[in-house]
Amino acid sequence: MRLVMIGSGYVGLVTGACLADFGHMVSCVDKDASRVETLRRGAMPIYEPGLETIAAHNVRDGRLSFTTDLTGSVKGADAVFIAVGTPSRRGDGHADLSYVYQAAREIAMALQGDTIVVTKSTVPVGTGDEVECIVRETRQGSAFSVVSNPEFLREGSAVQDFKHPDRIVVGVQDERARAVMTEIYRPLFLNKSPILFTSRRSAELIKYASNAFLAMKVTFINEIADLCEKVDADVREVALGLGADNRIGPKFLHPGPGFGGSCFPKDTVALVKTAQDHNSPVRLIETTIAINEVRKRAMARRIIYAAGGNVRGKRIAIFGLTFKPNTDDMREAPSISIIQALQDAGAHVSAYDPKGMDQARELWPDVSFHASPYEAAENASAICILTEWEQFRALDLQRLEKIVAQPVLVDLRNVYSEEEVKRFGFAYSAIGSRSRTPAHIADLAAARERLVEAV
Ligand code: UDX
Repeated sequence: MRLVMIGSGYVGLVTGACLADFGHMVSCVDKDASRVETLRRGAMPIYEPGLETIAAHNVRDGRLSFTTDLTGSVKGADAVFIAVGTPSRRGDGHADLSYVYQAAREIAMALQGDTIVVTKSTVPVGTGDEVECIVRETRQGSAFSVVSNPEFLREGSAVQDFKHPDRIVVGVQDERARAVMTEIYRPLFLNKSPILFTSRRSAELIKYASNAFLAMKVTFINEIADLCEKVDADVREVALGLGADNRIGPKFLHPGPGFGGSCFPKDTVALVKTAQDHNSPVRLIETTIAINEVRKRAMARRIIYAAGGNVRGKRIAIFGLTFKPNTDDMREAPSISIIQALQDAGAHVSAYDPKGMDQARELWPDVSFHASPYEAAENASAICILTEWEQFRALDLQRLEKIVAQPVLVDLRNVYSEEEVKRFGFAYSAIGSRSRTPAHIADLAAARERLVEAV
């Protein structure tokens, strides 16, 4: 099949490279000539594990190419995917569809023959109808179908997710489009991935409902974690027992500093807006958003408390800045609000992140960035693990204890256990267990002082 990807961002690139890997001929189009140039050189503009290898392999075999020429690519294509951004619109939080509609107009101008226009971008219910109108108005009499085919790719494991999806959702209105979409995804049927055909509007809503549900699940366990601290329970045990119920499932029950990223924050707000517009408010999601916002600054207060209650003029070391591991993406990362709140309290923030520091430098000229966690931790009154990068699971705590001003570890991802860090003299604050609350840290710190005095 001849396929075209309009937009060579995160979704377009991963989808394009993986579809080429299935044997299709894929042309990835982008308006940004320098991005296309970078891609042609074999470099990836984003960090995504496995993507560079798969792209290089398919470029070499002639199945994957990059271009700025939309018109030439769309001519004679079997399917054209719209994979452009739908950011939050400034001012009202609705999804900004201007890039989608612009792409639809340009595709319409270039269409020849019977082509399927597939919306990959996350778009509100009814966008497919609008795309159809745009194409029809621009090219009266042309043969085309508009399909909704949302993606469910997680950053950091997008290639894996593409190749082993829980489901493929395809919102189609006609048999021919259904047949083409079946052909495109045929290799996945070998992996027994189910394809779910729905109406176009249902497909559009499935994407928002999925992200909103997951954001709600994370927020739920975050609140249960807070309760655990108050009632002397351990959230890890609670999550285990809760997730063992098949109806609930064990995933997305890891408490943390709040959800972030390029999807959950913007998609939850967009769903709330759509629901309000249709006079059918989704109050659970409205509340989820509000809880998540408050949580991030609460995490900063937790760090300040653990560091002794006053961080003015003190150094706080932050390990991990990106919204999750295995990505360089800083969009809506909890670190943004947390670092702001620490700086508001007068702290000097020193930070280390394996992949996100280039992007982070643009956000905070006054944060000091370091080449390793150990450099960042020098003279710190508290270390905070904010993102659970694999390399933070094996920190040399003995070395860290020697270089910090005060051995306090605030573990916002529950990477360690208290037993592990206590052996190295650290006071420990984690999420969702009473034994790790600031009160306990104070006890530990007092015990440590007694120990030092005794020695
Ligand atoms: C998400 C969806 O999972 C994906 O299907 C969709 O296509 C895009 O949005 P992504 O944003 O890459 O993917 O990240 P995800 O792994 O879903 O995590 C989202 C946020 O929730 C992160 O901030 C993460 O740290 C947080 N999270 C996730 C938790 O705090 N606890 C969990 O148990 C899971």
